[in-house]
Amino acid sequence: MCGIFAYLNYLTPKTRREVLEYLVTGLKRLEYRGYDSAGVAVDSDDGKGITLVKQTGKVKILEDAIKEFMTGHDIDTPISTHCGISHTRWATHGVPSDLNSHPQRSDEENSFVVVHNGIITNYKDVKKFLEKRGYRFESETDTEIIAKLVHHLYLQHPNYSFRELVEQVIQQMEGAFALAFKSKHFPGECVATRRGSPLLVGIKTKTRLATDHIPILYGKDSATDPEHRPHGAGREVPMIPRTESTSEFQPLEDKEVEYFFASDASAVIEHTNRVIYLEDDDVAAVKDGALSIHRLKKSLDDKHAREIITLKMEIQEIMKGSYEYFMQKEIFEQPESVINTMRGRVNLVNNTVTLGGIKEYIPEIKRCRRLMLIGCGTSYHSAVATRQLLEELTELPVMVELASDFLDRNTPIFRDDVCFFISQSGETADTLMALRYCKQRGALIVGITNTVGSSICRESHCGVHINAGPEIGVASTKAYTSQFISLVMFGLVMSEDRISLQTRRQEILEGLKNLDSQIKEVLKLDLQVLEIAKDLFQQKSLLIMGRGYNFATCMEGALKVKELTYMHCEGIMAGELKHGPLALVDDMMPIVMIVMRDCVYNKTINAIQQVKARGGQPIVICEENDKETMQFAHKVLEVPKTVDCLQGVLTVIPMQLLSYHIAVLRGCNVDCPRNLAKSVTVE
Ligand code: G6P
Repeated sequence: MCGIFAYLNYLTPKTRREVLEYLVTGLKRLEYRGYDSAGVAVDSDDGKGITLVKQTGKVKILEDAIKEFMTGHDIDTPISTHCGISHTRWATHGVPSDLNSHPQRSDEENSFVVVHNGIITNYKDVKKFLEKRGYRFESETDTEIIAKLVHHLYLQHPNYSFRELVEQVIQQMEGAFALAFKSKHFPGECVATRRGSPLLVGIKTKTRLATDHIPILYGKDSATDPEHRPHGAGREVPMIPRTESTSEFQPLEDKEVEYFFASDASAVIEHTNRVIYLEDDDVAAVKDGALSIHRLKKSLDDKHAREIITLKMEIQEIMKGSYEYFMQKEIFEQPESVINTMRGRVNLVNNTVTLGGIKEYIPEIKRCRRLMLIGCGTSYHSAVATRQLLEELTELPVMVELASDFLDRNTPIFRDDVCFFISQSGETADTLMALRYCKQRGALIVGITNTVGSSICRESHCGVHINAGPEIGVASTKAYTSQFISLVMFGLVMSEDRISLQTRRQEILEGLKNLDSQIKEVLKLDLQVLEIAKDLFQQKSLLIMGRGYNFATCMEGALKVKELTYMHCEGIMAGELKHGPLALVDDMMPIVMIVMRDCVYNKTINAIQQVKARGGQPIVICEENDKETMQFAHKVLEVPKTVDCLQGVLTVIPMQLLSYHIAVLRGCNVDCPRNLAKSVTVE
């Protein structure tokens, strides 16, 4: 969704030019989260007010506007303490426009400015409340109420600290948010908070911190009355007990320190690898260089402190290197990313698989009534891809669910269900809500994510990190193959002591062993795929057909083509061909068919013959040297043979490449497709 980046330097002099550069670079790293408009807020020339620069469009356009702003302003005087906030937006309320972009402000004086990721569901009530008190709104966003409410509270309670004001504000908010605030009344301070949207704090000091934990400060009285929210009730916003502000964390004796608030780690890693992931309802405030974390209420599972984590991510992982696009880089990284997923887990000498994150829970999982695999988009497809194998290796019923539909149906869930939540980002709102729904009903929750510290990670009972490395391109590629392999490894763990399955396990382990070199072989098809893309890129529609283990490749391939190229594309279960899709087939309709020599081979050959009989000219993805199948093909892409249940890892790669090349030929922005965002943190 949207990306938040804020930077505060305390006693570490920085010019506003440097601060603006930090903010813009931070936004560029987060741009995959949303990119229809962007903005920054820094101190004004005299240091007494706040300057906003906001632009519709991508961060590059904002960067140009900032360059323009720089001429004619003194931006090269070092400032010892300063706070800047910034945002890249994915519109939910109000079209992308300069006015709707963030930071949103309290008034024409820019007394308080705020950046927001998420959706405030009760914003209309709060807006009514504020309008009655004379506030005039300039944007169509839900966010503007936040800036105006904090201002309203400040006027009523001028003795409150910045952090206390923000605490009061979030008590009135319903919905999901991550927020960062800046105010001209509190220069050099920054307050940030979250509920349902990710936010972390990066800390940079000259010497190592004396502690790895920031203690949490709680409100004296945890009772808050939701009745008192300004649901158009017309009364004043009630004040909630203030949290103690004593014993704030002092990072260093000399206190020189820099803080970074960001939606994810990729924006801070070039500055520091020391971060704290904030929890829902944490309010983090920096004042006089000291960071403190407050909560109004104690909850049962509170840890009483937030740990400062050392990130293992490397800066190169989030750079494009010699590739044109992140997506291209991520496709070509797959030989390594699949190895990273298996590293330390698959032991090819004694044929064992160990998944440390779920090891203790395996006996409980073995006793369960059924497995449920839940996700959205590409993550859902990884569940479809591995369902058949999991049914075979676990001998349990396996249900595969789209998180949104699962929630719509109020699906019955039992205490003896095991629910897997698959999510690259670990933040997808629908998946997270489905997780909470299942957790409330007593199911065991297993997270399969790529993002350490994400909400799904933290809220799961146990899980598997897919370790694919940061994925920046909006269209998911390497995360898919790593999710796929993680689920296969889970199946292998579950079947370890099944004598009847040992031969099968052995062939899968062999398959895993050779996967990286086979992926390298598939990637060599790149130029051949480009030629096919040249034939297809002006078409209006594309059908991708297959069945069995390769049906997921059809759906995932079609999703890639749709999201990247804006071309209509459908993944079709070849078994359903006669039940409708065959009517679409003629000599003009572009068709890709995946025909592997697995247990559905004969049926897939039937499908290809039906297509041929209607004049169809299929592009066939088949096994190397499969001459018999090739005779049906108009064009062929040959991939190496692996064990049937892993073949989908190899067949999806030509589809990733095809969508990539079609998108480039059509002049589309590969990494940031229109209307999409990588991390969908709203329902
Ligand atoms: C968005 C992205 C997709 C992704 C889906 C699920 O729609 O554009 O690429 O597959 O979210 O994301 P997740 O992070 O939960 O895997």
